[in-house]
Amino acid sequence: MNEFHNPVLLSESVSALKIKKDGVYVDVTFGGGGHSKEILKKLNKNGKLIVFDQDKQAILENKILDERIIVMNTNFRYLKNCLTSISINKIDGIIADLGVSSFQINTKRGFSFNSDLELDMRMNQSSSLSALEVLNEYDKENLSRILKEHADFNNSKKLAERIVSYRRKKDIQNSNDILNIFEGCFYVPKKNQFFARIFQAIRIEVNDELNALKDLLKASLNLLNPSGRLVVISYHSIEDRIVKTFMKYGHFEAFVKKDFFGNQFHPFTLINKKPILPSSEEMNSNNRSRSAKMRVAEVNKLSNMQFDDV
Ligand SMILES: C[S@@+](CC[C@H](N)C(=O)[O-])C[C@H]1O[C@@H](n2cnc3c(N)ncnc32)[C@H](O)[C@@H]1O
Repeated sequence: MNEFHNPVLLSESVSALKIKKDGVYVDVTFGGGGHSKEILKKLNKNGKLIVFDQDKQAILENKILDERIIVMNTNFRYLKNCLTSISINKIDGIIADLGVSSFQINTKRGFSFNSDLELDMRMNQSSSLSALEVLNEYDKENLSRILKEHADFNNSKKLAERIVSYRRKKDIQNSNDILNIFEGCFYVPKKNQFFARIFQAIRIEVNDELNALKDLLKASLNLLNPSGRLVVISYHSIEDRIVKTFMKYGHFEAFVKKDFFGNQFHPFTLINKKPILPSSEEMNSNNRSRSAKMRVAEVNKLSNMQFDDV
């Protein structure tokens, strides 16, 4: 048990990478380094591991002294440029364990509705947009959009109206304000799920998580070698939908692309038709793993279509 973060689906995800001893791998969500340490165990001295995390504290607190590791304290949406900057053009596998770490939830950044903290929610502490700006400055339409697009709320307009009318009387500052805003809006036995979705919508907006994920997936197509593996663990249905569609079609809409000559674009083979879930033992011992879904895809030999077209 790692106090910083207990890695989810650890052995399943690392074995899904099908690691070649001398291969080049990227862990785009380093966090407490749980997955990275396991990958390093499988590499020989010629193997390489490049890790990304946009949270400086995660990088500083979990240093791994190993010559085979290269650390990038930045958003994984810049994967391609960062790898180019260190002269790496092709890699053998990517692992992404999305979302926030337990450490981040326990910091005083207001990620959780169970503690009355100022609403910040930035994974990257030097980025400019915080939850306070989203909640106090976004107009009603924008608030409704994020509640709909980031948390599937069908009544997003009404919920956005609540936020706007509350803040006419008082600035929104902390988690308690959120609880007060939505008093009486939820079916009581589902209170926790309701607030988890509200917080999810705000957090995704603050960290631009869905666009970053799409940028990462697009970059993976050009970077992964044939037979390279893409392993993604997601924690809510919106992320999972994006990953599932991308692995199936190589882009973000559910249809098969064809080029001028009618060649179909099938960049990946899905290794498992259904997502892999944690065992019941893991779910019981690590609450955070309960919503995890892992998808694995392997890159096919290059098709006639240019991946740049995606
Ligand atoms: C669930 S934790 C990963 C835990 C890690 N696999 C482990 O075993 O300790 C997710 C981590 O990814 C980072 N992260 C999330 N989105 C990111 C992004 N777009 N770019 C870079 N880091 C990101 C977060 O800051 C967090 O530290």
